[in-house]
Amino acid sequence: MLQHDVVIVGSGLAGMRAALEVCGELNTAIVTKVYPSRSHSGAAQGGVAASLANEAKDDNWELHMFDTVKGSDYLGDQDAIEIMAKDAPTTIREMEHFGCPFSRTPEGKIAQRDFGGHSRPRSCYAADRTGHALLHTLHEQVMRRKKDLTIYSEFYLLSLIIKDGVCGGITAMDIKTRKIEVIRVRSVIFATGGYGRAFSITSNAFASTGDGIMAAYRVGLPLQDMEFVQFHPTGLFGQGILVSEAARGEGGYLLNSKGERFMEKYASSRMELAPRDIVSRSEQTEIDEGRGVGPNGKAIHLDMRHLGREKILERLPQVRQLGIDFIGMDMVEEPILIQPTAHYSMGGIPTDNDGRVIIDDKKTRITGFFAAGECACVSVHGANRLGTNSLLDALVFGRRTGKTVLEETRNKDFPPVNEEEEIGKVKKEISDILDSPGTESMNDIRNSLKDNMMDRCGVFRDKTRLEECLKAVKGLQARFPKGKIMDKGTNFNTEIIEAIELRNMLDFSEIIVTGALAREESRGGHARKDFPKRDDVKWLKHTLAAKAADGGIELKYKPVAITKHRPEERKY
Ligand code: FUM
Repeated sequence: MLQHDVVIVGSGLAGMRAALEVCGELNTAIVTKVYPSRSHSGAAQGGVAASLANEAKDDNWELHMFDTVKGSDYLGDQDAIEIMAKDAPTTIREMEHFGCPFSRTPEGKIAQRDFGGHSRPRSCYAADRTGHALLHTLHEQVMRRKKDLTIYSEFYLLSLIIKDGVCGGITAMDIKTRKIEVIRVRSVIFATGGYGRAFSITSNAFASTGDGIMAAYRVGLPLQDMEFVQFHPTGLFGQGILVSEAARGEGGYLLNSKGERFMEKYASSRMELAPRDIVSRSEQTEIDEGRGVGPNGKAIHLDMRHLGREKILERLPQVRQLGIDFIGMDMVEEPILIQPTAHYSMGGIPTDNDGRVIIDDKKTRITGFFAAGECACVSVHGANRLGTNSLLDALVFGRRTGKTVLEETRNKDFPPVNEEEEIGKVKKEISDILDSPGTESMNDIRNSLKDNMMDRCGVFRDKTRLEECLKAVKGLQARFPKGKIMDKGTNFNTEIIEAIELRNMLDFSEIIVTGALAREESRGGHARKDFPKRDDVKWLKHTLAAKAADGGIELKYKPVAITKHRPEERKY
C-alpha cells in the first residue's frame, strides 16, 4: 500500500494550484490519468476574468460579481461568487509573478478583452492560448517543487475510500502495468475535471469522463446540479473543437443563411457577447427554423474577415489554425462553420467555499475529502457559467482548498484502510468487464450514448425527448455488461480504461437526464421547451442527486445562497 499525507487527483489548474499550498509541509502526491501538461485546463483559450480595470477604468469586483450572478441565472451561490470576484485580481497578479506570459497593452499592462455576459472587458489573455499558458506556468512551479512532490502520471482513479464519513484514500490503476494500488491518505483533493465527453459534439478533452464525480457518487455522496451542462456557441462544425469566444470578443459576427446578424433579435444590447446559454439557444433556434448554413443547414457562420489578417494572427492564431486543420476553412478568407458544443459541466461534487465536500443543506461534511475546479460545485457558476470564470474558479478555489487541506491535515491521523478489501472490490469490477463473454461493441454503446445525449438532452430539452433519452441510457447501461474487451493484456491497456470511463459516462448521463426531467423550468443552460420560463417560486434551488437504497437516483434540493442580488428578469 502506498501512503501520502495528501493525494490530489487531477493535474489541471485546480489540482496543481492546490498542490503548491500543501507540498513541502505535507507529504503530497498528484495522481493524474494524463501528464500534468496535457490536462484539459490547457484547452481554455480566450482568457481568465479579473477586474484589473486595465481597459475599463470603472471595473471593480462588485461589477464582476453582479455579472456572474446574473449570468448564472441566479442559481450561483453569491457568497462564493463574491469570494471569487474579490480574489480575482490577486490571483492574476500571482500568476503573472509566477511567469505567465499574458498579452500586454501598449503601456505594458495585462491586456483585457470583452467576453460574453461580462459588462466590462476583463478577460486577461495570452493570445488565444490562455489555459495553455496558465497550465504551463503552474507546471513550472510544480516542477520547481519536485523534491516535495510525487507525481503519479498515467494513473487512473478507480475508487474513493470512505468509511463512516471519513476519507481514507483512493484506489488507482497504473495504466502502464494495470497494477492496482491503494493509496492511503490523511486527505484527498479531487480536481478531476468535468463530464462533457458524453455528448457527440464537445470541446472537452478525451479525459473529461467524470471519473472523480462518479467515484464520489458510487460511495453514496450526492452530486449537485448535474443537469446543468453548458453549450458553448462556437464549436467547429462537426468536430466540436473550441473556437474561442474571444473571436466574438474581438468583434466576430454570427450570421444565418440570410446573412443576418440574428443576435439582434435575441439580445440586442449584447449581441454576440450575450452569455453562452442565450447565444447557443439563438443559434439552435436559427438552425431549427431553417436558417442554418452548411451541410443540412446545421451550422452557423462565424465571420471574422472584417478584423483583418493581422489582428486575427495576433489575437487568434490558434483558432484560425484549428479551422484550417480540422474543417479546411481559413477565417481570414471566409466565414467559418460553427455550432453549439458541449463545453462545461456546471454540476459536480458539492463543496463549501474552502473546498470541503458537503453532503446536504446542513453543511454535513466528509472528513478528509475535498474538491476543486470543474469537478466541484461550489457553486460559482449556477445554471450558466460566464466565459473566463472557469480558469479563475480553478485557480481561486484550488488555492483556497490547498490552504484548508494544509490546516486540517497537519494534526490529523491516517484513518484505517483495509487494503485487501478495497483492492478486492475494484479487481472484481475490472474482471467483470475484462472477462465478460459478451459480444457487444463498447464503441457502439459509447457512440449511441453520445448521439442520444446530444439529440435529446442538448441545447433544448422537453419531457418527451428527455424520457426517450432516459430510456435509451438505461438500455445502454443494460448492454454494457455484454460489452467485449479485445485487449486482455497488462501493458497500457487503454481499452479497459475506456470501458470504465464509458461506465462512468452512462451513469452520470442517467443523473443528468433525471435531474433535467425533474426540473420543470428553464434556467441558464437547462432550457425546457415545455417549461420555457424560469420559476423562482418552485425551482430557485440546487439539485442534489444521490444513489438510493434500491440503486436508483434520489433527488433532493438545497437552497441557493442569496446575499446581495435578489433574482430579477435576465435581459441583455
Ligand atoms: O471561449 C473560450 O475561450 C473559452 C473560455 C472559457 O470557457 O472560459
